[in-house]
Amino acid sequence: MTELRIEGLSKDFGTFRALDNVSLDIPNGKFVCLLGPSGCGKTTLLRVIAGLEAPSDGRVYVGGTDQTNVPTHKRGMGMVFQSLALFPHLDVAKNITYPLAIRGVDKAAQRARAEELLDLVRLPGLGARRIHQLSGGQRQRVAIARGLSINPQVFLLDEPLSALDASLREHMQIELRQIQQSLGVTTVVVTHDQTEALTMADLVIVMKDGVIQQAGAPMDLYHRPANAFVAGFIGTTNIMPCTVADGAVSVLGHSFPITKGDRIATQSGAAQLSVRPEHVVIGGTTEGLAAEITFLRDLGESLHVLMRVGDQEINAHLAPGHGHDLAVGKSVNIRFRNGQKVVVQ
Ligand SMILES: Nc1ncnc2c1ncn2[C@@H]1O[C@H](COP(=O)(O)OP(=O)(O)O)[C@@H](O)[C@H]1O
Ligand SMILES: [Mg+2]
Repeated sequence: MTELRIEGLSKDFGTFRALDNVSLDIPNGKFVCLLGPSGCGKTTLLRVIAGLEAPSDGRVYVGGTDQTNVPTHKRGMGMVFQSLALFPHLDVAKNITYPLAIRGVDKAAQRARAEELLDLVRLPGLGARRIHQLSGGQRQRVAIARGLSINPQVFLLDEPLSALDASLREHMQIELRQIQQSLGVTTVVVTHDQTEALTMADLVIVMKDGVIQQAGAPMDLYHRPANAFVAGFIGTTNIMPCTVADGAVSVLGHSFPITKGDRIATQSGAAQLSVRPEHVVIGGTTEGLAAEITFLRDLGESLHVLMRVGDQEINAHLAPGHGHDLAVGKSVNIRFRNGQKVVVQ
């Protein structure tokens, strides 16, 4: 029972409120991503969970036990810092077992554990290396191994992959997820990268200005965003001001009927319409919104079509083989696929 529960957590730095009444339930063995823009309080929340920062209000429970006043080293938490914070004067094995050394674990057990963890993070035989003899990706693995050395109840990582280049980062996301699944350790990773969150997480928690906007499974957030911020932060989307009335959504001077599957948060009044680029349909109709194409970006796997309707920019993503007749400057009619309109407040 190592579920993590956070209850009414707030953190003030002077008069600035970095976390505002944050509550969360993270089930045992789940992989959770804290996702949000820079400065929204992700690191602060992780530090409060770890006990590196005392909350101004609220409590932290691990496995049902109140840990709020328990010192960091007694919380059974493994941590990977954004800076990695590896020790250049220690070799790889000693870096990995440092948390065991300060807990007084004997040397033979430390060596055995280092071997085990080096295998786990796929660095077998590199225990005697110095940190400066490792690549960025290898250092990352050492930091992960060190975070796991005490066999933590809860594993906390702050933007662990942000220093890696794109392809290595993607590779490590998958590997980190596989390691977490093999150990079944309850894990919280901070990231500002939505793709990273979608790749790794069982549960994504979107934060803004110290407040949780929405918590849920990745595809829940994608298909049923609680507000325009979440809609825009998870995946890409078109957000347009709209009004809802009489079973229809009016947007940019055109009225679209609400159809089965549309997710409409309000029955009437002003709101915001979110339509994913893959659900914007171009042509094949004389109805719909009159748009002008402003840019075409062919990525091979999809064709991105940027358009304008008045001052509103609208983005469509077409599957390969579509859109050959499109050109910059061309006028087209667009509509939104039935059942794919999302109206949020
Ligand atoms: N020790 C501190 N003293 C004062 N302000 C801080 C401190 N730590 C963080 N903050 C502020 O709290 C906010 C959240 O910071 P942080 O948790 O680091 O955000 P994130 O990790 O999401 O980028 C920021 O505005 C930051 O400037
Ligand atoms: Mg941070």
